[in-house]
Amino acid sequence: MPGKKKFLITPALPYANGPLHLGHMVEHVQTDIFVRYQRSAGNEVVFVCADDTHGTPIELYAAKQGLTPEAMVAEVWESHRADLRDFGVSLDTFHSTNSPENKHYSELIYERLKEAGDILRRSIRQTYCEVDRRFLPDRFVRGTCPNCKSPDQYGDACEVCGKTYQPDELISPRCAICGTPPVTRESEHLFFALSRHQAWLQDVVRSPGFLHPAVANQLQAFFDQGLQDWDISRDAPYFGFPIPGEKDKFFYVWLDAPIGYVSATEKWAKDSGRARSAMDLWAEDSDTEIRHFIGKDIVYFHALFWPTVLKVARFKRPAKLHVHGHLTLNGEKMSKSRGTLIGARAALEAFDPAYIRYFYAANLGPGPEDFDLSLPEFRARVNGELVNNVGNLANRTLSLLTGPLGGKLASAPGEAGKSLLEGALARVPEVVASYESLDFRSVVRTIVEVSQSANQFLQARAPWAKVKTDPEVARADLSDASDVVALLAAFLTPIVPSVTEKLFAQLGTPPLTFADLAKPRVPLLPRGRALGTPSPLLPRLEEAQVNKLVPAEELARLAAKATAKAPRAEPAPATGEKDAPPEEIDIDAFARVALKVGQVLAAERVPKADKLLKLTVDVGEGSPRTVVAGIAEAYAPEVLVGRKVVVVANLKPRALRGIESRGMLLAAGTGGASLRLVDPGDLPPGSPVK
Ligand code: MSP
Ligand code: ZN
Repeated sequence: MPGKKKFLITPALPYANGPLHLGHMVEHVQTDIFVRYQRSAGNEVVFVCADDTHGTPIELYAAKQGLTPEAMVAEVWESHRADLRDFGVSLDTFHSTNSPENKHYSELIYERLKEAGDILRRSIRQTYCEVDRRFLPDRFVRGTCPNCKSPDQYGDACEVCGKTYQPDELISPRCAICGTPPVTRESEHLFFALSRHQAWLQDVVRSPGFLHPAVANQLQAFFDQGLQDWDISRDAPYFGFPIPGEKDKFFYVWLDAPIGYVSATEKWAKDSGRARSAMDLWAEDSDTEIRHFIGKDIVYFHALFWPTVLKVARFKRPAKLHVHGHLTLNGEKMSKSRGTLIGARAALEAFDPAYIRYFYAANLGPGPEDFDLSLPEFRARVNGELVNNVGNLANRTLSLLTGPLGGKLASAPGEAGKSLLEGALARVPEVVASYESLDFRSVVRTIVEVSQSANQFLQARAPWAKVKTDPEVARADLSDASDVVALLAAFLTPIVPSVTEKLFAQLGTPPLTFADLAKPRVPLLPRGRALGTPSPLLPRLEEAQVNKLVPAEELARLAAKATAKAPRAEPAPATGEKDAPPEEIDIDAFARVALKVGQVLAAERVPKADKLLKLTVDVGEGSPRTVVAGIAEAYAPEVLVGRKVVVVANLKPRALRGIESRGMLLAAGTGGASLRLVDPGDLPPGSPVK
């Protein structure tokens, strides 16, 4: 077995100018899944983050609220920390760039850049507001685009035509703070001599494994143009660290922000006592592998400046930058003004964050592609896969084992169960490789497939029908299924740790780790153990919960957009029969229909019948019934397992495609794909429906 690896892993440092939103959480969840996987595999991980607190926008934002920047960043820090904790992000330390540790390392690194002769002085011309008495960052100058003449554009680029320019090229520029036209002033700035390191840096960026090839290719344009030296100073007033030896000059926020990775490590070392200082991990010869997780918008800083600064300052460089894409909402960029920039806290208040963690994992791959949080798809995936497929496999297996079978497991696997389990264990190397390469959507796909195979196994073996007649066979099958459940729990732990913690307790075992899976046994878990008490792992995610995230007007707009796009529904066939008003009946006629709540235990397609599914439904009668239902165009069999339905229980048995169907399910809709099963809520099977 290879020795333990040591990692230092960081997400980007969120700006302290407001609460975290679901876009930020993509990165924190992605990083946390990777960290939890590495820990489960037996490696040592230090996982740190911090708030990025400096710069003009933060200072002005604080002023707007009548706060000092220090007071505002302290408040925001509390909220970020709580959001990350409640999303289950297992950080060792969450620090701040406005800290003594960060001041120390910023000064140290700057001194080393200076010693190396890589700090240059140059005079530059910049926009200055004489009213506010400050230099204006590009984003704080607004005016008419010199290219397409669109009004009210930022000083760096036009959002309408995409042209980039200097702020003094804008037509009738104004200060974004007070509205007066700015002037241009000369000022001396300090530059880091990045251009000297171009050849070296180009090799780093191209070295295999450092960046996803798609990202490395995008950076080529910067090398082709030739790298520019980098302005690392800003004039007072500025919220940041004063530059030693200079008057009224401060480090630019993007100099001290990544140094926050070092100072957060320092804070961790001090608080935990697990290292003497950050330098145990950041010295050039340290045995720790450093990896940063970042969004595609900040690659430039992390791939060009940061490695070069670290090299010149004689610090260890990151081995890899993992770059993710951006989250969109229902196919659109999230927007603060339309209320679709969903706060992390709003999501936490609406439902268990495990749903979001699962959905993100199901969509994240190794590359920098964007992905969409479509609310209907979000619900469909978590309900169909996590709640129904995996959740019900676990619940029905454990319920039958602890209920009718007295909680005793079979000591050895059955023949069929052994091959099920071996088939599932054969997927371990694939899951390991997918976790290692950040291909979480493949991990999720494998989990769903393994879970489906176990559900099909149960369907074929029908242990619920054998608990009385053939209990030892049922016990063996269910014990083997419970081993697959344990394996799935291990696979799922990095993604939804709070859910699998419950599941391991129900399985009566300490968590099964990837280190354990390096040499698995069959059976996987000791069979003499006592099981815990089964209970449903996660409730279905309801539409009303998801709808809480977005303002009602936005939902209406999105629904209108979706209808406009969707193909028109087929009109109902215009037979005279359907159009005629239904015949009136008296209440007694209706009372003769016995309606009951049922729970689907198993579902499969009926060969050569496109519309039919064969369902095994528990209607609270001891042994379940077979019901053949014409809903195959509307529902995939796997999403039905575990679902509650309304059954017409006293229908005379009828044969459909040679299968005897006992009962009928109630569904709304005109037929085909538009059918929707009537949902009786969470009542137990057998409950009357009136
Ligand atoms: N403070 C800088 C990073 C400094 S790192 C030394 C910053 N902060 S940020 O708050 O704007 O973004 C933090 C991270 O969240 C970035 O990696 C960014 O890409 C990511 N995301 C912000 N919005 C996002 C989405 N909509 N989707 C996915 N990630 C997003 O940049
Ligand atoms: Zn002004």
